[in-house]
Amino acid sequence: MTGVLILGASGLAREVLPVLREQGRDVLGILDDRHAELPRTVGGVPVLGGIADVGLYPDAELLACVGPSGVRSDVVARAESAGARQWATVVDPSVRNPGDCPVGQGSILLAGVTLTADAVLGEHVVAMPGVTVTHDCLVGDFATLAAGVSLGGAVRVGRAAYLGMNASVRPGVVIGAHATVGMGAAVLTDVPSTKTWVGVPARQLKAGVRP
Ligand SMILES: CC(C)(COP(=O)(O)OP(=O)(O)OC[C@H]1O[C@@H](n2cnc3c(N)ncnc32)[C@H](O)[C@@H]1OP(=O)(O)O)[C@@H](O)C(=O)NCCC(=O)NCCS
Repeated sequence: MTGVLILGASGLAREVLPVLREQGRDVLGILDDRHAELPRTVGGVPVLGGIADVGLYPDAELLACVGPSGVRSDVVARAESAGARQWATVVDPSVRNPGDCPVGQGSILLAGVTLTADAVLGEHVVAMPGVTVTHDCLVGDFATLAAGVSLGGAVRVGRAAYLGMNASVRPGVVIGAHATVGMGAAVLTDVPSTKTWVGVPARQLKAGVRP
Protein backbone atom coordinates (compact mmCIF):
# COMPACT_ATOMS: atom_id res chain seq x y z
CA MET A 1 0.00 0.00 0.00
CA THR A 2 1.48 3.33 -1.01
CA GLY A 3 0.79 6.62 0.74
CA VAL A 4 2.01 8.46 3.82
CA LEU A 5 2.00 6.72 7.18
CA ILE A 6 2.28 9.08 10.14
CA LEU A 7 4.17 8.13 13.28
CA GLY A 8 2.71 9.89 16.34
CA ALA A 9 -0.93 10.89 16.95
CA SER A 10 0.13 14.39 17.94
CA GLY A 11 -0.96 17.99 17.47
CA LEU A 12 1.83 18.21 14.90
CA ALA A 13 0.22 15.29 13.02
CA ARG A 14 -3.10 17.16 12.97
CA GLU A 15 -1.30 20.24 11.63
CA VAL A 16 0.39 18.23 8.88
CA LEU A 17 -2.70 16.29 7.76
CA PRO A 18 -4.48 19.26 6.09
CA VAL A 19 -1.27 20.08 4.20
CA LEU A 20 -1.02 16.51 2.91
CA ARG A 21 -4.70 16.60 1.90
CA GLU A 22 -4.23 19.94 0.15
CA GLN A 23 -1.36 18.39 -1.81
CA GLY A 24 -3.56 15.45 -2.81
CA ARG A 25 -1.31 12.93 -1.02
CA ASP A 26 -2.84 9.69 0.25
CA VAL A 27 -2.58 9.14 4.00
CA LEU A 28 -2.82 5.52 5.13
CA GLY A 29 -3.17 6.27 8.84
CA ILE A 30 -1.24 6.76 12.07
CA LEU A 31 0.96 4.47 14.12
CA ASP A 32 1.36 5.33 17.80
CA ASP A 33 2.35 3.14 20.72
CA ARG A 34 -0.59 4.49 22.70
CA HIS A 35 -2.98 3.12 20.06
CA ALA A 36 -5.00 1.04 22.55
CA GLU A 37 -5.98 4.23 24.45
CA LEU A 38 -6.54 6.42 21.39
CA PRO A 39 -9.76 6.92 19.43
CA ARG A 40 -10.08 4.88 16.23
CA THR A 41 -9.38 7.96 14.15
CA VAL A 42 -7.26 11.05 14.80
CA GLY A 43 -7.46 14.04 12.48
CA GLY A 44 -9.80 12.03 10.25
CA VAL A 45 -7.40 9.13 9.60
CA PRO A 46 -7.34 5.67 11.23
CA VAL A 47 -5.03 4.75 14.10
CA LEU A 48 -3.60 1.48 12.80
CA GLY A 49 -1.23 0.22 15.50
CA GLY A 50 2.15 0.86 17.12
CA ILE A 51 5.54 1.94 15.76
CA ALA A 52 6.69 -1.69 15.53
CA ASP A 53 3.99 -2.24 12.88
CA VAL A 54 5.85 -0.19 10.24
CA GLY A 55 7.03 -3.45 8.66
CA LEU A 56 3.41 -4.16 7.63
CA TYR A 57 3.57 -1.16 5.24
CA PRO A 58 6.76 -1.68 3.22
CA ASP A 59 5.68 0.69 0.43
CA ALA A 60 4.55 3.54 2.66
CA GLU A 61 6.40 6.81 3.01
CA LEU A 62 6.79 7.43 6.74
CA LEU A 63 6.60 10.77 8.51
CA ALA A 64 7.55 11.22 12.17
CA CYS A 65 5.11 13.78 13.63
CA VAL A 66 6.52 14.00 17.13
CA GLY A 67 7.22 17.50 18.47
CA PRO A 68 10.04 16.99 21.00
CA SER A 69 13.30 16.55 19.08
CA GLY A 70 14.80 13.75 21.18
CA VAL A 71 11.60 11.71 21.15
CA ARG A 72 11.31 12.18 17.38
CA SER A 73 14.85 10.90 16.97
CA ASP A 74 14.05 7.81 19.09
CA VAL A 75 10.86 7.11 17.12
CA VAL A 76 12.75 7.30 13.80
CA ALA A 77 15.49 4.97 15.11
CA ARG A 78 12.89 2.45 16.30
CA ALA A 79 10.96 2.64 13.04
CA GLU A 80 14.14 2.07 11.05
CA SER A 81 15.04 -0.97 13.12
CA ALA A 82 11.49 -2.26 12.51
CA GLY A 83 12.00 -1.97 8.75
CA ALA A 84 11.22 1.65 7.82
CA ARG A 85 12.76 2.43 4.43
CA GLN A 86 11.47 5.67 3.02
CA TRP A 87 10.57 8.97 4.63
CA ALA A 88 8.17 11.60 3.35
CA THR A 89 9.05 15.31 3.38
CA VAL A 90 6.29 17.89 3.79
CA VAL A 91 6.70 21.49 2.65
CA ASP A 92 3.65 23.74 2.93
CA PRO A 93 3.01 25.53 -0.40
CA SER A 94 3.44 28.90 1.33
CA VAL A 95 7.07 28.17 2.26
CA ARG A 96 9.54 30.59 0.61
CA ASN A 97 12.78 28.97 -0.50
CA PRO A 98 13.83 30.99 -3.54
CA GLY A 99 17.48 29.94 -3.25
CA ASP A 100 16.50 26.26 -3.28
CA CYS A 101 18.17 25.54 0.07
CA PRO A 102 18.36 21.79 0.64
CA VAL A 103 15.83 20.26 3.03
CA GLY A 104 16.55 16.74 4.34
CA GLN A 105 14.14 13.83 4.05
CA GLY A 106 11.54 13.46 6.77
CA SER A 107 11.46 17.20 7.42
CA ILE A 108 8.26 19.20 7.92
CA LEU A 109 8.04 22.90 6.99
CA LEU A 110 4.71 24.47 7.94
CA ALA A 111 3.03 27.64 6.68
CA GLY A 112 5.07 30.75 6.14
CA VAL A 113 8.54 29.34 6.78
CA THR A 114 11.25 31.33 4.95
CA LEU A 115 14.69 30.04 3.96
CA THR A 116 16.62 32.94 2.46
CA ALA A 117 19.94 31.79 0.93
CA ASP A 118 22.60 29.11 1.35
CA ALA A 119 20.97 27.53 4.39
CA VAL A 120 20.85 23.76 4.90
CA LEU A 121 18.17 21.87 6.82
CA GLY A 122 19.00 18.32 7.89
CA GLU A 123 16.76 15.27 8.09
CA HIS A 124 13.59 15.10 10.22
CA VAL A 125 13.76 18.81 11.02
CA VAL A 126 10.47 20.45 12.04
CA ALA A 127 9.98 24.16 11.26
CA MET A 128 6.64 25.39 12.58
CA PRO A 129 4.67 28.34 11.15
CA GLY A 130 6.49 31.58 10.53
CA VAL A 131 10.06 30.38 11.11
CA THR A 132 12.81 32.45 9.44
CA VAL A 133 16.12 30.77 8.59
CA THR A 134 18.51 33.29 7.07
CA HIS A 135 21.69 33.01 5.02
CA ASP A 136 24.27 30.30 5.72
CA CYS A 137 22.41 28.69 8.63
CA LEU A 138 22.94 24.97 9.25
CA VAL A 139 20.09 23.20 11.02
CA GLY A 140 20.99 19.71 12.22
CA ASP A 141 18.97 16.51 11.91
CA PHE A 142 15.97 16.28 14.26
CA ALA A 143 16.13 19.95 15.26
CA THR A 144 12.80 21.64 16.04
CA LEU A 145 12.16 25.32 15.36
CA ALA A 146 8.84 26.26 16.99
CA ALA A 147 6.53 28.91 15.55
CA GLY A 148 8.15 32.26 14.90
CA VAL A 149 11.77 31.28 15.57
CA SER A 150 14.25 33.57 13.80
CA LEU A 151 17.82 32.53 13.08
CA GLY A 152 20.35 35.22 12.15
CA GLY A 153 22.95 34.55 9.48
CA ALA A 154 25.28 31.55 9.83
CA VAL A 155 23.62 30.23 12.99
CA ARG A 156 24.29 26.56 13.59
CA VAL A 157 21.61 24.49 15.31
CA GLY A 158 22.84 21.13 16.58
CA ARG A 159 21.24 17.75 16.16
CA ALA A 160 17.92 17.39 18.03
CA ALA A 161 18.08 20.89 19.53
CA TYR A 162 14.68 22.44 20.37
CA LEU A 163 14.00 26.18 19.98
CA GLY A 164 10.74 27.37 21.58
CA MET A 165 8.26 29.80 20.05
CA ASN A 166 9.58 33.17 18.93
CA ALA A 167 13.14 32.59 20.09
CA SER A 168 15.68 34.73 18.20
CA VAL A 169 19.30 33.76 17.68
CA ARG A 170 22.09 36.24 16.99
CA PRO A 171 24.08 35.73 13.78
CA GLY A 172 26.93 33.23 14.06
CA VAL A 173 25.76 31.63 17.31
CA VAL A 174 25.95 27.85 17.82
CA ILE A 175 23.11 26.01 19.56
CA GLY A 176 24.49 22.70 20.83
CA ALA A 177 23.05 19.27 20.14
CA HIS A 178 20.01 18.39 22.27
CA ALA A 179 19.96 21.90 23.76
CA THR A 180 16.64 23.64 24.52
CA VAL A 181 15.97 27.35 24.04
CA GLY A 182 12.85 28.68 25.78
CA MET A 183 9.99 30.63 24.23
CA GLY A 184 10.83 34.25 23.56
CA ALA A 185 14.56 33.95 24.28
CA ALA A 186 17.10 36.26 22.68
CA VAL A 187 20.20 34.11 22.29
CA LEU A 188 23.39 36.19 22.11
CA THR A 189 26.06 33.58 22.86
CA ASP A 190 26.61 29.89 22.13
CA VAL A 191 24.33 27.44 23.98
CA PRO A 192 26.12 24.30 25.21
CA SER A 193 24.83 20.87 24.21
CA THR A 194 21.96 19.44 26.29
CA LYS A 195 21.46 22.65 28.33
CA THR A 196 18.28 24.75 28.57
CA TRP A 197 18.62 28.47 28.08
CA VAL A 198 15.84 31.06 28.52
CA GLY A 199 15.24 34.79 28.69
CA VAL A 200 16.47 38.08 27.25
CA PRO A 201 19.40 37.86 27.05
CA ALA A 202 19.29 34.07 27.28
CA ARG A 203 20.93 32.40 30.28
CA GLN A 204 21.06 28.82 31.48
CA LEU A 205 17.96 27.49 33.25
CA LYS A 206 18.96 25.07 35.98
CA ALA A 207 15.58 23.33 36.18
CA GLY A 208 14.47 20.40 34.04
CA VAL A 209 13.52 20.42 30.38
CA ARG A 210 9.92 20.00 29.29
CA PRO A 211 9.24 21.59 25.89
C1 LIG B 1 12.16 26.59 28.63
C2 LIG B 1 11.15 25.52 28.92
C3 LIG B 1 11.53 24.24 28.14
C4 LIG B 1 11.22 25.24 30.41
O1 LIG B 1 10.27 24.29 30.76
P1 LIG B 1 10.27 23.67 32.26
O2 LIG B 1 11.58 22.99 32.50
O3 LIG B 1 9.01 22.90 32.37
O4 LIG B 1 10.29 24.95 33.16
P2 LIG B 1 9.18 25.51 34.20
O5 LIG B 1 7.92 25.88 33.49
O6 LIG B 1 9.12 24.56 35.36
O7 LIG B 1 9.87 26.86 34.67
C5 LIG B 1 11.09 26.87 35.37
C6 LIG B 1 11.51 28.31 35.55
O8 LIG B 1 11.90 28.82 34.27
C7 LIG B 1 11.10 29.98 33.94
N1 LIG B 1 10.81 29.87 32.51
C8 LIG B 1 10.25 28.83 31.86
N2 LIG B 1 10.18 29.06 30.54
C9 LIG B 1 10.72 30.28 30.36
C10 LIG B 1 10.94 31.07 29.21
N3 LIG B 1 10.58 30.65 27.99
N4 LIG B 1 11.53 32.28 29.36
C11 LIG B 1 11.88 32.71 30.61
N5 LIG B 1 11.71 31.99 31.75
C12 LIG B 1 11.13 30.78 31.60
C13 LIG B 1 9.85 29.85 34.80
O9 LIG B 1 9.26 31.11 35.03
C14 LIG B 1 10.41 29.23 36.04
O10 LIG B 1 11.06 30.23 36.80
P3 LIG B 1 11.06 30.20 38.42
O11 LIG B 1 11.80 28.93 38.79
O12 LIG B 1 11.79 31.44 38.78
O13 LIG B 1 9.63 30.16 38.81
C15 LIG B 1 9.70 25.91 28.49
O14 LIG B 1 9.12 26.87 29.36
C16 LIG B 1 9.62 26.46 27.08
O15 LIG B 1 9.88 27.63 26.80
N6 LIG B 1 9.24 25.54 26.16
C17 LIG B 1 9.04 25.83 24.75
C18 LIG B 1 7.54 25.61 24.43
C19 LIG B 1 7.27 25.82 22.97
O16 LIG B 1 7.66 26.80 22.36
N7 LIG B 1 6.56 24.88 22.41
C20 LIG B 1 6.19 24.95 21.00
C21 LIG B 1 5.38 23.78 20.62
S1 LIG B 1 3.72 24.18 20.39
